[in-house]
Formats: sequence, structure tokens, C-alpha cells
Amino acid sequence: MVVLKNIAVFASGRGSNFAAILNKIQSGEITARVVCVISDNEHPPVFDVAIAAGIPTFCINRKQFATPEEYADALLSRLKEKRVELIVLAGFLKLIPTPIVRHYPQAIVNIHPALLPNFGGKGFFGIKVHEAVIASGVKMTGVTIHFVDEKYDNGAIICQEKVAILAGDTPEILAKRVLEVEHRLYPQVVKALCEDKIIVKNRKVIWNR
Ligand code: GAR
Repeated sequence: MVVLKNIAVFASGRGSNFAAILNKIQSGEITARVVCVISDNEHPPVFDVAIAAGIPTFCINRKQFATPEEYADALLSRLKEKRVELIVLAGFLKLIPTPIVRHYPQAIVNIHPALLPNFGGKGFFGIKVHEAVIASGVKMTGVTIHFVDEKYDNGAIICQEKVAILAGDTPEILAKRVLEVEHRLYPQVVKALCEDKIIVKNRKVIWNR
């Protein structure tokens, strides 16, 4: 019998990575169900993708709570209520509170549109990453998918794929090429996680393909 993993997606904006993953769930390639989409924004476009698929959406934002503890409690109780087993960050702007990280060891993943540890950390988000990459003059960028810990873009790296920077690239043109790789790679990683094919020891990630 196939056991479906319960996934929560955290996203702040557009949701194209979420859509790419959802597509593979709907086709049966990924053995999971998305039980909720959580955002720090009230009406992000990603909610439209979720609503169209009948997936519950929740806006949970630090500003709604008096203390960081209350914020973390609200997130955690929602995740427990939905019996979430895996958290997939897909363009989520905020830091994941420590209690959530501790409650989900090696069960929170993030995608970043550059080759970490370069061009990562607080403030490196979306188009800003590609602007910094082009301004630096590097010839190679790419995609990183990693486990999430208490710091921005810092957890053990699951996989990386390079994308060459071409003459004439603008941040927008480069973002588009990087996004194509994201849409291919992230569903593969989520599939492997749902099949328990990825293990991590001392920051070393082994992917049993
Ligand atoms: C993606 O390019 C993702 O890698 C990036 O935000 C975009 C979200 O797009 N994430 C970060 O920069 C994290 N630091 P999407 O909402 O269409 O999936």
C-alpha cells in the first residue's frame, strides 16, 4: 500500500515551484498530499493555485502575534492539526522559527536560486539574488535545494545544479532560466523525500536514487 506523506507548503508570492510540485502530485509521481499552504501574506498569488486545487490556505504572520513564541505556537499547532510530516518552502521570505525547526528535523526543505553558500542569507531573495549574481561578474550560478535550520540558507545541501550566465543576461532573463531548473529539480527532491530516499549525517546528504 502506498503511504502518502502530508506536506505543508510555505510560500510568500507567486507559487510557481508549488505549482510544479502539485502537478507531479496530481499525476501520481509524488506520493504525497498537500494538506495546507501557509503564507506570511494575506492574498499571495500562490493561494489562487492552492484554492483551485481545493487545498486550505492560511496567512500566519509574525505581526499578528504579540511575541515570537505565540507566532511559533500558532504555526506549530496548525502543522500538528494538519498532521504535517514534511514542510516545503517555495519562495518563503521569512525565517522559520526555532521550535518549528526542532519539531521537524530534516523534514523542512528550501529552494534557493543560486549556488549556496554564495549569494544567500538574509535579504537574498528572488530577483535580488540574480541582480547580485550578475553584478558580481561570476560566470556560473544555479539552484540549491537544502534542508532548513535556524539560519537563512544554511542547512545541509541536498542537491545543486549549475546554470551558466550568458552575455546579455539581465536579472530577469537569468531568473527565467534558473526557474526552469527549479521546476524540474524541486519535484524530484520532494519525490525522493516522500519515498524516504534522502538521508543526512553531519551535513552530508546521501540520495539513494
Ligand atoms: C524562486 O526562484 C525561489 O528559488 C526563490 O523565490 C522564487 C519563488 O518563486 N527563493 C528564494 O530566493 C529564497 N531565498 P515561486 O513563488 O514562483 O516558486
